[in-house]
Amino acid sequence: MRLRGEVALVTGGASGLGRAVVDRYVAEGARVAVLDRSSIGLAKLKETHGDAIVGIEGDVRLLESNKHAVARCIEAFGKLDCLVGNAGVWDYMATLVSMPDDQIEAAFDEMFSVNVKGYLLAVKAALPALYDSKGRVILTASNAAFYTSGGGPLYTSSKHAVVGLIKQLAYELGPHIRVNGIAPGGVVGSDLRGLKALGLQEQSISTISLPDMLDHVLPTGKVATAEEYTGAYVFFATRAETVPLTGSILDFNSGWGVRGLIDVNLGAELDRCFGKQTMDGKAA
Ligand SMILES: NC(=O)c1ccc[n+]([C@@H]2O[C@H](COP(=O)([O-])OP(=O)(O)OC[C@H]3O[C@@H](n4cnc5c(N)ncnc54)[C@H](O)[C@@H]3O)[C@@H](O)[C@H]2O)c1
Repeated sequence: MRLRGEVALVTGGASGLGRAVVDRYVAEGARVAVLDRSSIGLAKLKETHGDAIVGIEGDVRLLESNKHAVARCIEAFGKLDCLVGNAGVWDYMATLVSMPDDQIEAAFDEMFSVNVKGYLLAVKAALPALYDSKGRVILTASNAAFYTSGGGPLYTSSKHAVVGLIKQLAYELGPHIRVNGIAPGGVVGSDLRGLKALGLQEQSISTISLPDMLDHVLPTGKVATAEEYTGAYVFFATRAETVPLTGSILDFNSGWGVRGLIDVNLGAELDRCFGKQTMDGKAA
């Protein structure tokens, strides 16, 4: 119960990573408001968590939706301690070359509108409440916030922009509000959708087997599930354990940035050397 008595607002909390964060926050004793465009996802959350959550249907691209979510959160729970900006969309690795001339402008606007403006507006709407509570902001970045090939140029640049947003806001909002980010790698159990402007709004990342694609190249040997990412969201939301922490982004992606390019499975060598030994070094 590391978040007992705390109140959070999670955007995009009706599915995937956001949903796992909501489940974990409630399990840790928090009450949680969730802003999401999916009424079905919000209804499922309510069914599971009852009065511990309040769902607000809306669009993170609109300041009004974000303000409404904060107002409903305060109305239901009396305060806001932690804002988790998380709602996002993907570009399904659409390359610059592949994007048609008549779609590229709208695709860029949609991507930045959800992934960057959505975070900016959520923080703007939450400022008075977070000032009152001396609260925290956590923004979901991505492996694509630091590295190539986690998306096409639209997604990758939008997540790099999130890094800038975190740093600038951490500087501007201190010492009252702390602002940090978490950069997960692939998320097993997510329903990440594509851009409407590219005709990809019904496409779900759940149709791609991330373990088949990534497990053999990641140093941890395993792409993580949504639930496995939630510990970091708890840590960043705690007050006592994060006193010196602001403007940081946790590269939380199974070693994406240090993976080998040539020999990707050096773990096999360890197995060859030590596989017949027990953990304390004795022969099995
Ligand atoms: N899935 C991955 O492999 C992966 C990897 C790295 C980072 N991420 C990031 O994790 C975050 C969560 O994504 P996910 O993978 O859990 O996807 P998801 O689609 O399962 O969850 C995203 C949620 O955001 C909501 N949403 C999307 N656009 C919205 C809007 N305009 N207004 C309100 N709600 C909106 C959706 O309804 C959904 O409930 C995103 O920021 C994503 O970029 C995902």
